[in-house]
Amino acid sequence: MPHYRVTLAYDGTDFEGFQAQARGRTVQGALEAALSQLVDGEPVRVAGAGRTDAGAHALGQTVCFRLERDLRPAEMVRALNGLLPRDVRAREAALVGPEFHARRSALSKLYRYELDTGPVQLPTRRRYPGHAPCVLEVAGVEAAAALYRGRHDFASLASAGGNVKTTVRTVTRSEARYDGETLVYEVEADGFLRKMVRSMVGGLVAVGSGLVSVEGLREALHARDRRAWPAPAAARGLTLVHIDYGDPGSAPGATIAGVPSMALQDLLEVVPAGSDERALVEAIDWTRLPRHVAVIMDGNGRWATLRRKRRVEGHRAGIDAVRDVVETSARLGLEVLTLYAFSMENWKRPQMEVQTLMGLLKHYLRRELETLLRNNIRFQVIGRMEDLPPDVQKELHRGIERTRASTGLLFNIALNYGGRAEIKDAVQRLLADVVANGQDPASITEESISSYLYTAGQPDPDLLIRTSGEMRISNFLLWQIAYAEIWVTETLWPDFRRKHLLQAIADYQKRERRYGGIGAA
Ligand code: FPP
Repeated sequence: MPHYRVTLAYDGTDFEGFQAQARGRTVQGALEAALSQLVDGEPVRVAGAGRTDAGAHALGQTVCFRLERDLRPAEMVRALNGLLPRDVRAREAALVGPEFHARRSALSKLYRYELDTGPVQLPTRRRYPGHAPCVLEVAGVEAAAALYRGRHDFASLASAGGNVKTTVRTVTRSEARYDGETLVYEVEADGFLRKMVRSMVGGLVAVGSGLVSVEGLREALHARDRRAWPAPAAARGLTLVHIDYGDPGSAPGATIAGVPSMALQDLLEVVPAGSDERALVEAIDWTRLPRHVAVIMDGNGRWATLRRKRRVEGHRAGIDAVRDVVETSARLGLEVLTLYAFSMENWKRPQMEVQTLMGLLKHYLRRELETLLRNNIRFQVIGRMEDLPPDVQKELHRGIERTRASTGLLFNIALNYGGRAEIKDAVQRLLADVVANGQDPASITEESISSYLYTAGQPDPDLLIRTSGEMRISNFLLWQIAYAEIWVTETLWPDFRRKHLLQAIADYQKRERRYGGIGAA
C-alpha cells in the first residue's frame, strides 16, 4: 500500500489542537475525514510529527499515512485541498519508504512565536499573534533567549500531562528580534515538551519586562519545578514552521524527491493552459533543474533609449523583471538565484545614474521584503557591501537579517561585485590562515579556495543567463562559472520574464554537461 508524507499548513484558531480527540474539531480529525473520502469511506489513520495546542498554527506540520489509492504526490495535494476545510491546506506530498515516520524520523523542529507588544490589541490581529501590552527590554529578552540554547533539562517548562521518557532537549537555535512592536522569537530543537515554546516565551517576557532577572530565570530552569516558571504565552502566537527530516526535500518550498511542490502547482495555475509558456512548463524535467542560476542583467539603458526615455527609466523597468524572475525561481524550487545588479566598474557611470540605482535597490527591498518572507526566500549580498552608501547598507542588512531563517530559495544580489577582486580577497584571507596555522601551501585545494569566496557553501551556477545579446562574462563569478552552461538572449533585461527563464531552463536541459569528459556513448 502506498505510504505518503504530507506537509500541512493550518490556522489553528478554530481547532482544539492537532491531535484527534473524542470531542471537538481537530486537524487530524479533519485530515482523516478527507482521506477517508478518497477510499470510499474506509477509516484512515494518520501519524503526525507532534501535537500542537488548541489555537496554535502551522506552516510545516508533517503527517504520514498509508492509503489504498495510488495517487501521484501532486494529485494527492490537489485531492486533499479539494476535500479539506479552508483552514487546513496540504502544501506538499511525497511517497516515502516504509521506514519513514512523521514523529520518529524528525531530526528537529522549528517554531516561531510572534508577540504583539503594542498598547492595544488590534481587531485584525486577534486570531494571531499573541498580545502583551508591555515594553520589553531588548537586552533582557536576548539574554533569556541565549539561556535556552544548548542541552538542558526543561522539566520546569513542561506542562503536566506530557508522557515523555526524558525532559532533556537540545536547543540549536533560540533567537529573538523585533519587527516594529512585534517580538518574533524562533526556536529550533531536537524535540519539544508540551507548552515548552509558550513557556520559553513566558520566560522572555518575564525577563524583558523586569519581573524576573536573567539569573532568576536560570535558577528557575535548573529547579526542574513547573511552579518556579513564569506563565506560558497564549497559544495563538505560536506557529510550527518546519520539521527537518535531513533531506533536501524537507525544506519548505523545495521539491520532494523531484515531485513538483505546491508552489509549482501555483505556477501551473497561473500559466494559461494551451499557451507556449504552458508547453514550456510541461516540458521541464523537474528532476534535473539547475541548482543555481546566475543572471547578468543587461540592456536597461538600450531599452530606455529605444523608448526615448532616460537610462534610469530602464533600470526602473528592470525591477519588474527582477520581481518576476525571483518569484518564478522560488516557485520552481531552485536552490540559488544570483542577479548581477552593480559591478565595481559601475561607479564610473554618471552620479545621477548611480544614485538612482542605489535608490531603486532600497526601494525594492522595502517593498518586497514581506513577499520574500512569505515565499520563504533568503536574501544575501555578494560583493564589497561595506563600500556602499550607509543608508543602502542599512536596508540590505535589514533584508539579510529578516530573511535569515528562510529555508527556500537563496537570492544573492551581486553588488559592488568584481570576480577578480573576490578571488584576490579570498586568496589573501586563505593564505593568511594557512600561514597563521603553520600549514603547507600545498594543502590549498580548489575546495578551500571556494570556501573563502562570497558564495561559500553554495552550489556553483549550473546556468548563466545574459540578456541583450552581449557575449561577455563581465568579471562575474569567474571562479564559480567554470562549468556553467551559458545562455544568451537578445531580450533586453526590462522585457525578461518567466517565459524566458523557463526557455533558458528547457534549453539547459537539452545540453549534455561533460565537465571536460567525452560524455555518454
Ligand atoms: C545593465 O544595463 C543593468 C545594470 C547595470 C543594473 C541592473 C539593476 C537593476 C535591474 C535594478 C536593481 C536591481 C535589483 C536586484 C533590485 P545597462 O545599463 O548596462 O544597459 P545598456 O548596456 O543597454 O546600457
